[in-house]
Amino acid sequence: MIKNQIYRRLLSYISPYNGSIVIAMACALVVSVCELARIQIFADTLNALKSLEGYQQSEQPVVFQLFVIKGFFDGYEITFTNVSTAIRFFLGLLGGVIGLVFIKGIFVFWSDFLMERVGNKVSLYVRNELYGKIINAPIKVITEHHSGDVMTRVTEDVRILQQAVASTASIMRAGINVIIFLSAMLYKNIQMTVLSLIILPLIAYLISRIGAQVRKSSTEIQERSSDIYTQLKETLSGINIIKSFTAENVEIERFKSSTTKQYNSAIRRARFASLLPPVIDWLAAIGSAFVFALGCWQVINGNLDIGWFAGYILMVGLMYKPIKTIGGVNTVLQQSVASAERVFLVADFDEEQSHTIQGSDELINVNGSVEFQNVTFSYDSNVVINDVSFIVEPGEVIALVGHSGSGKTTLVNLLQGFYTPDSGQIMIDRTPINQVPLQSLRQNIALVSQDTILFDGTVLENIQYGSNKSTRSDVMNAAIKANADTFIKKMSNGYDTTIGEAGGYLSGGEKQRISIARAILKDAPILVLDEATSSLDTQSEAIIQESLSNLMEGRTSFVIAHRLTTVMGADKIMVISDGKIAESGTHDSLIANRGIYSKLCEQQIFA
Ligand SMILES: Nc1ncnc2c1ncn2[C@@H]1O[C@H](COP(=O)(O)OP(=O)(O)O)[C@@H](O)[C@H]1O
Ligand SMILES: [Mg+2]
Repeated sequence: MIKNQIYRRLLSYISPYNGSIVIAMACALVVSVCELARIQIFADTLNALKSLEGYQQSEQPVVFQLFVIKGFFDGYEITFTNVSTAIRFFLGLLGGVIGLVFIKGIFVFWSDFLMERVGNKVSLYVRNELYGKIINAPIKVITEHHSGDVMTRVTEDVRILQQAVASTASIMRAGINVIIFLSAMLYKNIQMTVLSLIILPLIAYLISRIGAQVRKSSTEIQERSSDIYTQLKETLSGINIIKSFTAENVEIERFKSSTTKQYNSAIRRARFASLLPPVIDWLAAIGSAFVFALGCWQVINGNLDIGWFAGYILMVGLMYKPIKTIGGVNTVLQQSVASAERVFLVADFDEEQSHTIQGSDELINVNGSVEFQNVTFSYDSNVVINDVSFIVEPGEVIALVGHSGSGKTTLVNLLQGFYTPDSGQIMIDRTPINQVPLQSLRQNIALVSQDTILFDGTVLENIQYGSNKSTRSDVMNAAIKANADTFIKKMSNGYDTTIGEAGGYLSGGEKQRISIARAILKDAPILVLDEATSSLDTQSEAIIQESLSNLMEGRTSFVIAHRLTTVMGADKIMVISDGKIAESGTHDSLIANRGIYSKLCEQQIFA
C-alpha cells in the first residue's frame, strides 16, 4: 500500500472524533498564546527594569508602556512614583506569570487527555472490528495465516496505532506553537525571522529521511514480534512434545534467534530515533547564533530594544523546541504507519460468503436427506474431492472410511459450508446448500470432532455453547444421554465448575462426552462425527459408544471412525480413495466384494 493511502485510511478511523480533535487543537492554541504572553511580560519587564536602573537615587516619576502590540493595542501606561510602587508592580507581574502557567497547565491537560481518549477509542473500535473480521473470515483465510501473527496484529499493532493517535496531541501543540511563534517573530522583526528559518529545510529533510528508516525498522520489529508470539503459543500448547523430544535447547535457541533479530531491529530504530533530537539541536544552535549576531547588531544600531532582543532569542528557542517535538513524534507516526499496514491486512480479510442470494430461504423442519452431485474440490491446485456423487436418506448412518489423507474430513467440511466446491452441488432436503444462509445450514448440522475444544467458562456454559435458549434441565438431560452427568456431578462445583479448574484433570473421554452433550443439546437433524472417538482407548470408547448411539438416534449421521464395531453397524459404508468413492454398500456386501474395504477390515484400519 502507498504511504498516502495508509494515512488516508488511518484518518478515516480517526475522523469520527473530529469534534474532540478540534477542541484539543483549540486548547493547544490557548497554550501557545499563554507562552507568548509570558515572553511579552518577560521582555516588557526587562525593558522596565532597564529604565529603572539606579531609580532609588532619583525622585522623578518614571512612565512606562506595557503590552504594546504595534498597530493593534496601545498597551497600558504605568507610572512609577516611588520604589515601593515599582516593587509592588513587579510582584504583581510575577503573580500574573504564575497564573499564566496555571492556565496553560489546564489546557495542556485537556489537549493531552482528549487525544489520549481519541487514541483509546480508535483502538477499541479497531480491535473489535478486527475480531469481527477474523471470526467471519472463511476458514481458508484463517488457515493461511499464522495465528501468532494475527494475534500480534490485533494486540501489538493496534496498541502502536493508539499511541500514535494519542501523541498527535503533542504534534498538534507543536505545530500550533510554530505557527504562533513564527507569526509573532515575523511581526517583530522580519530580517531576524528569515535568518532563523534558513536551516528549516535542512531539518525537514532530516526528519523525513530518518522517519523512513524508522518505519522500515518498525516493520521488522513487528514481524519479529509475530515470530515470538507464534513460538510462545506453540511452546505452551506443545510443551509435552517438546519435553518428550528433549527439544528444549533447540527451542531456546530458536527463541533467542527471534528475540535477537528483534533486538537488532529495535536498536537500529533507536539509533535513528535518538539521533534526531541532538541533530536538530545542533542545527538550531547554528541558526540561533546567526540570529543572535544580527540581534546584537540591531540593538547597537538602535533598531531593537534590549528587552525584545532577549524575548526574541527566547522565541527562537521556543520555536525550535516544537520542531524537535515534531521530529520525535514523526518517528512514532512512522512506526504507526508500519503497524497500520499490518492492521489493515486483517481488516481486509474477506467475509465468508453468506449465500444470501435473492430468495434464499432458511432451512426449516429438515428431514435430513443429503445429496452430493458431481462435487469436485481442491485446496489450491491439488484435487482432493474428485467428482463425488451419492444420496443419503433421512436418518441413515453413513460410515466414511479410507486411508488417512484420502479426503474424508474434506467431504464433511464441504457439507458444513466450511469450503465451497469448485463444481457440483450439495443438497440438503433437495435444497442446494449454496442457496441457504450459512448460519441456517450450520444450525442443522452438529459436529463432534477428534479434538474437543472446551472454552473458558463453566461446564454448563460449555454444553450450552451455541444453544443459548436451553435451560439448566435441558443441559442436564443432554449430559445424562451423553453419560457425562455422573462425572460432572462429582466435580467440585458440579455443572458450575469452571473449565479452568477442571480442564487440567479432565480425561480425553470426559472432554469428549461434554462435547457429545453439546451436540445432543444442539439437536440438529444431521450429525458429523469426525474421528470422535479416535483419541480414546477401547474402554473409554465403549462408554462413549452408548452416548454416540443416543446422539445418532433419528439423525442422518456421517461417521468417520477407525474401529470396526462403529463402522459395521452403519446403514451404508463409503470407501474414499484418492478423492473418489471407490466402493460403497453394507459391511457384508463389501466383504463379499473383496475390495479395498475387506483389506482394511483385515488390517483393522479405517481412518
Ligand atoms: N487446509 C488445507 N490446505 C491444503 N491441503 C489440505 C488442507 N486440509 C487438508 N488438506 C489435504 O487434503 C487431503 C485430504 O485431507 P483430509 O480430508 O483431512 O483427509 P482425511 O480426513 O481423509 O484424513 C490431504 O492430502 C491433506 O493434506
Ligand atoms: Mg480427517
